[in-house]
Amino acid sequence: VIEVLRRRVEDARRARTVAAMTQPEELERYLERTRPAEFLHYRGLAREKRVEVEALLAELRLDVVGLRVLDLGPAHGDSLDVFRERGAASCSFVERDAVFHAYNRLKGFEGHRFDLIGDLDRLAGSGFELVYAKGSVNPTSFRMRGERGLRRWLAAARAATAPHATLVIAPWAPVLARDGVDGHWFTRTLLEDGFEALPWIDGHNAEGIYPVTFVRRGHLAGRLGAAAQLNERAVVAGGTPS
Ligand SMILES: C[S@@+](CC[C@H](N)C(=O)[O-])C[C@H]1O[C@@H](n2cnc3c(N)ncnc32)[C@H](O)[C@@H]1O
Repeated sequence: VIEVLRRRVEDARRARTVAAMTQPEELERYLERTRPAEFLHYRGLAREKRVEVEALLAELRLDVVGLRVLDLGPAHGDSLDVFRERGAASCSFVERDAVFHAYNRLKGFEGHRFDLIGDLDRLAGSGFELVYAKGSVNPTSFRMRGERGLRRWLAAARAATAPHATLVIAPWAPVLARDGVDGHWFTRTLLEDGFEALPWIDGHNAEGIYPVTFVRRGHLAGRLGAAAQLNERAVVAGGTPS
Protein backbone atom coordinates (compact mmCIF):
# COMPACT_ATOMS: atom_id res chain seq x y z
CA VAL A 1 0.00 0.00 0.00
CA ILE A 2 2.81 2.37 0.88
CA GLU A 3 4.52 1.61 -2.43
CA VAL A 4 1.31 2.31 -4.38
CA LEU A 5 0.80 5.59 -2.53
CA ARG A 6 4.42 6.59 -3.07
CA ARG A 7 4.07 5.93 -6.81
CA ARG A 8 0.85 7.96 -6.98
CA VAL A 9 2.47 10.92 -5.29
CA GLU A 10 5.41 10.66 -7.67
CA ASP A 11 3.09 10.44 -10.71
CA ALA A 12 1.15 13.49 -9.55
CA ARG A 13 4.38 15.45 -9.06
CA ARG A 14 5.66 14.46 -12.50
CA ALA A 15 2.30 15.38 -14.08
CA ARG A 16 2.41 18.85 -12.46
CA THR A 17 5.99 19.40 -13.57
CA VAL A 18 5.46 18.52 -17.24
CA ALA A 19 2.05 20.21 -17.43
CA ALA A 20 3.70 23.51 -16.50
CA MET A 21 6.24 23.30 -19.34
CA THR A 22 5.89 25.68 -22.26
CA GLN A 23 8.88 24.77 -24.49
CA PRO A 24 9.79 21.42 -26.09
CA GLU A 25 13.45 21.95 -25.02
CA GLU A 26 12.35 22.08 -21.39
CA LEU A 27 10.73 18.67 -21.76
CA GLU A 28 13.78 17.26 -23.60
CA ARG A 29 16.02 18.34 -20.68
CA TYR A 30 13.56 16.70 -18.27
CA LEU A 31 13.63 13.48 -20.34
CA GLU A 32 17.43 13.43 -20.33
CA ARG A 33 17.46 13.86 -16.59
CA THR A 34 14.72 11.36 -15.67
CA ARG A 35 14.86 8.89 -18.61
CA PRO A 36 11.26 7.58 -18.28
CA ALA A 37 11.30 3.99 -19.53
CA GLU A 38 7.95 3.91 -21.34
CA PHE A 39 8.60 7.18 -23.14
CA LEU A 40 12.03 6.02 -24.31
CA HIS A 41 10.58 2.68 -25.39
CA TYR A 42 8.05 4.37 -27.68
CA ARG A 43 10.60 6.90 -28.91
CA GLY A 44 12.71 3.94 -30.00
CA LEU A 45 9.73 2.65 -32.01
CA ALA A 46 9.10 5.97 -33.79
CA ARG A 47 10.02 4.78 -37.28
CA GLU A 48 7.94 1.60 -36.97
CA LYS A 49 4.97 3.58 -35.68
CA ARG A 50 5.12 5.86 -38.72
CA VAL A 51 5.20 2.83 -41.01
CA GLU A 52 2.19 1.36 -39.16
CA VAL A 53 -0.06 4.35 -39.77
CA GLU A 54 1.19 4.86 -43.32
CA ALA A 55 0.42 1.21 -44.15
CA LEU A 56 -3.08 1.63 -42.76
CA LEU A 57 -3.80 4.84 -44.71
CA ALA A 58 -2.54 3.17 -47.88
CA GLU A 59 -4.79 0.15 -47.28
CA LEU A 60 -7.83 2.38 -46.70
CA ARG A 61 -6.78 4.66 -49.58
CA LEU A 62 -7.57 7.46 -47.17
CA ASP A 63 -6.36 10.96 -47.90
CA VAL A 64 -6.37 12.97 -44.67
CA VAL A 65 -6.03 16.41 -46.30
CA GLY A 66 -8.42 18.82 -44.62
CA LEU A 67 -9.72 16.31 -42.06
CA ARG A 68 -10.24 16.90 -38.36
CA VAL A 69 -8.35 13.98 -36.81
CA LEU A 70 -8.56 12.54 -33.29
CA ASP A 71 -5.83 10.17 -32.12
CA LEU A 72 -6.81 8.14 -29.06
CA GLY A 73 -3.75 7.15 -27.02
CA PRO A 74 -0.98 8.35 -29.37
CA ALA A 75 1.88 7.67 -26.89
CA HIS A 76 4.95 9.23 -28.60
CA GLY A 77 2.64 10.63 -31.29
CA ASP A 78 4.31 9.50 -34.50
CA SER A 79 0.84 8.93 -35.96
CA LEU A 80 -0.03 12.55 -35.14
CA ASP A 81 3.09 13.67 -37.02
CA VAL A 82 2.01 11.67 -40.07
CA PHE A 83 -1.52 13.13 -40.03
CA ARG A 84 -0.16 16.67 -39.78
CA GLU A 85 2.49 16.18 -42.48
CA ARG A 86 -0.21 14.82 -44.79
CA GLY A 87 -2.35 17.92 -44.41
CA ALA A 88 -4.96 17.16 -41.76
CA ALA A 89 -6.88 20.34 -40.88
CA SER A 90 -6.43 19.65 -37.16
CA CYS A 91 -4.92 16.92 -35.00
CA SER A 92 -6.23 16.34 -31.50
CA PHE A 93 -5.48 13.58 -29.06
CA VAL A 94 -6.50 12.07 -25.74
CA GLU A 95 -3.71 10.63 -23.62
CA ARG A 96 -3.69 9.82 -19.92
CA ASP A 97 0.07 9.57 -19.60
CA ALA A 98 1.36 12.96 -18.45
CA VAL A 99 4.69 12.83 -20.30
CA PHE A 100 3.22 11.67 -23.63
CA HIS A 101 0.50 14.29 -23.20
CA ALA A 102 3.01 17.08 -22.59
CA TYR A 103 5.26 15.94 -25.43
CA ASN A 104 2.47 16.02 -28.03
CA ARG A 105 0.99 19.25 -26.65
CA LEU A 106 4.39 20.93 -26.97
CA LYS A 107 4.56 19.80 -30.59
CA GLY A 108 1.42 21.88 -31.15
CA PHE A 109 -1.27 19.22 -31.11
CA GLU A 110 -4.50 19.83 -29.23
CA GLY A 111 -4.32 17.57 -26.20
CA HIS A 112 -6.81 16.26 -23.68
CA ARG A 113 -5.77 14.36 -20.62
CA PHE A 114 -8.55 12.08 -19.40
CA ASP A 115 -9.71 8.48 -19.52
CA LEU A 116 -10.56 7.88 -23.17
CA ILE A 117 -12.69 4.87 -22.25
CA GLY A 118 -14.75 6.32 -19.41
CA ASP A 119 -14.87 9.99 -20.36
CA LEU A 120 -14.99 10.20 -24.15
CA ASP A 121 -18.36 11.95 -23.95
CA ARG A 122 -16.39 15.07 -22.99
CA LEU A 123 -15.67 15.46 -26.71
CA ALA A 124 -19.33 15.33 -27.80
CA GLY A 125 -20.04 17.72 -30.65
CA SER A 126 -16.39 17.97 -31.79
CA GLY A 127 -17.12 16.72 -35.31
CA PHE A 128 -13.95 14.68 -35.77
CA GLU A 129 -13.72 13.10 -39.22
CA LEU A 130 -11.06 10.48 -38.59
CA VAL A 131 -10.49 8.66 -35.31
CA TYR A 132 -7.39 6.52 -34.92
CA ALA A 133 -7.23 4.26 -31.87
CA LYS A 134 -4.30 1.91 -31.98
CA GLY A 135 -3.67 -0.05 -28.81
CA SER A 136 -5.97 2.05 -26.65
CA VAL A 137 -9.47 0.60 -27.21
CA ASN A 138 -9.01 -3.06 -26.37
CA PRO A 139 -11.07 -5.98 -25.08
CA THR A 140 -9.24 -5.55 -21.76
CA SER A 141 -10.29 -1.87 -21.61
CA PHE A 142 -13.83 -3.15 -21.02
CA ARG A 143 -12.96 -5.83 -18.47
CA MET A 144 -15.18 -4.18 -15.86
CA ARG A 145 -17.76 -2.62 -18.20
CA GLY A 146 -18.23 -5.54 -20.62
CA GLU A 147 -20.22 -5.49 -23.83
CA ARG A 148 -22.63 -2.81 -22.61
CA GLY A 149 -19.65 -0.62 -21.77
CA LEU A 150 -18.32 -0.98 -25.30
CA ARG A 151 -21.75 -0.04 -26.71
CA ARG A 152 -21.82 3.05 -24.49
CA TRP A 153 -18.30 3.92 -25.66
CA LEU A 154 -19.38 3.56 -29.31
CA ALA A 155 -22.28 5.95 -28.66
CA ALA A 156 -19.82 8.46 -27.16
CA ALA A 157 -17.58 8.03 -30.21
CA ARG A 158 -20.53 8.78 -32.51
CA ALA A 159 -21.30 11.91 -30.50
CA ALA A 160 -17.70 13.11 -30.92
CA THR A 161 -17.57 12.54 -34.68
CA ALA A 162 -19.12 13.91 -37.85
CA PRO A 163 -21.71 11.69 -39.56
CA HIS A 164 -19.23 10.96 -42.38
CA ALA A 165 -16.35 10.09 -40.03
CA THR A 166 -14.07 7.09 -40.39
CA LEU A 167 -13.18 5.27 -37.17
CA VAL A 168 -10.22 2.93 -36.87
CA ILE A 169 -9.82 0.63 -33.88
CA ALA A 170 -6.71 -1.53 -33.89
CA PRO A 171 -6.91 -3.24 -30.51
CA TRP A 172 -3.95 -4.48 -28.55
CA ALA A 173 -5.49 -7.92 -28.25
CA PRO A 174 -3.43 -11.01 -27.40
CA VAL A 175 -6.77 -12.62 -26.52
CA LEU A 176 -8.01 -12.24 -30.12
CA ALA A 177 -4.67 -13.44 -31.46
CA ARG A 178 -4.90 -16.54 -29.28
CA ASP A 179 -8.61 -17.40 -29.42
CA GLY A 180 -9.45 -16.00 -32.85
CA VAL A 181 -11.08 -12.76 -33.92
CA ASP A 182 -14.37 -14.28 -35.09
CA GLY A 183 -17.02 -14.94 -32.48
CA HIS A 184 -15.43 -12.87 -29.72
CA TRP A 185 -17.85 -10.44 -28.05
CA PHE A 186 -15.55 -7.50 -28.84
CA THR A 187 -15.62 -8.33 -32.56
CA ARG A 188 -19.37 -9.05 -32.56
CA THR A 189 -20.20 -5.73 -30.90
CA LEU A 190 -18.09 -3.76 -33.37
CA LEU A 191 -19.54 -5.59 -36.39
CA GLU A 192 -23.06 -4.87 -35.09
CA ASP A 193 -22.10 -1.19 -34.93
CA GLY A 194 -21.12 -1.12 -38.61
CA PHE A 195 -17.40 -1.86 -38.36
CA GLU A 196 -15.66 -4.33 -40.61
CA ALA A 197 -12.63 -6.44 -39.71
CA LEU A 198 -9.88 -5.75 -42.22
CA PRO A 199 -7.65 -8.49 -43.57
CA TRP A 200 -4.07 -8.51 -42.28
CA ILE A 201 -2.14 -5.36 -43.24
CA ASP A 202 1.62 -5.84 -43.54
CA GLY A 203 3.43 -3.20 -41.54
CA HIS A 204 0.35 -2.42 -39.46
CA ASN A 205 -0.74 -5.67 -37.81
CA ALA A 206 1.65 -7.61 -35.59
CA GLU A 207 1.71 -11.29 -34.66
CA GLY A 208 0.36 -12.00 -31.21
CA ILE A 209 -0.58 -8.44 -30.24
CA TYR A 210 -2.26 -6.57 -33.12
CA PRO A 211 -4.12 -9.35 -34.97
CA VAL A 212 -6.88 -7.26 -36.53
CA THR A 213 -7.99 -3.76 -37.45
CA PHE A 214 -11.62 -2.71 -37.27
CA VAL A 215 -12.82 0.18 -39.39
CA ARG A 216 -16.14 1.94 -39.78
CA ARG A 217 -15.77 3.77 -43.07
CA GLY A 218 -17.32 7.15 -43.52
CA HIS A 219 -18.43 8.67 -46.81
CA LEU A 220 -14.98 10.16 -47.30
CA ALA A 221 -12.98 6.93 -46.97
CA GLY A 222 -11.27 5.70 -50.09
CA ARG A 223 -10.54 9.18 -51.37
CA LEU A 224 -7.92 9.34 -54.05
CA GLY A 225 -6.77 12.88 -53.39
CA ALA A 226 -7.84 16.45 -52.86
CA ALA A 227 -9.90 16.67 -56.06
CA ALA A 228 -11.80 13.49 -55.28
CA GLN A 229 -12.32 14.80 -51.77
CA LEU A 230 -13.90 18.04 -53.00
CA ASN A 231 -16.20 16.08 -55.30
CA GLU A 232 -17.28 13.75 -52.54
CA ARG A 233 -17.87 16.63 -50.15
CA ALA A 234 -20.05 18.27 -52.80
CA VAL A 235 -22.04 15.05 -53.05
CA VAL A 236 -22.38 14.81 -49.28
CA ALA A 237 -23.55 18.43 -49.20
CA GLY A 238 -26.10 17.71 -51.93
CA GLY A 239 -24.16 19.34 -54.80
CA THR A 240 -23.06 17.95 -58.15
CA PRO A 241 -19.65 16.35 -58.61
CA SER A 242 -17.54 17.97 -61.32
C1 LIG B 1 -0.41 0.43 -26.36
S1 LIG B 1 -0.10 2.16 -26.38
C2 LIG B 1 -0.32 2.49 -28.13
C3 LIG B 1 0.33 3.79 -28.54
C4 LIG B 1 0.19 4.15 -30.02
N1 LIG B 1 -1.19 4.48 -30.36
C5 LIG B 1 0.70 3.07 -30.92
O1 LIG B 1 0.12 2.89 -31.98
O2 LIG B 1 1.68 2.42 -30.59
C6 LIG B 1 -1.58 2.84 -25.69
C7 LIG B 1 -1.52 4.32 -25.38
O3 LIG B 1 -2.82 4.76 -25.01
C8 LIG B 1 -2.82 5.38 -23.75
N2 LIG B 1 -4.04 4.94 -23.06
C9 LIG B 1 -4.39 3.64 -22.85
N3 LIG B 1 -5.57 3.58 -22.23
C10 LIG B 1 -5.97 4.86 -22.02
C11 LIG B 1 -7.11 5.43 -21.40
N4 LIG B 1 -8.07 4.69 -20.87
N5 LIG B 1 -7.21 6.77 -21.38
C12 LIG B 1 -6.22 7.56 -21.92
N6 LIG B 1 -5.12 7.07 -22.50
C13 LIG B 1 -4.99 5.73 -22.56
C14 LIG B 1 -1.55 4.91 -23.05
O4 LIG B 1 -1.06 5.86 -22.14
C15 LIG B 1 -0.61 4.69 -24.22
O5 LIG B 1 0.11 5.84 -24.53
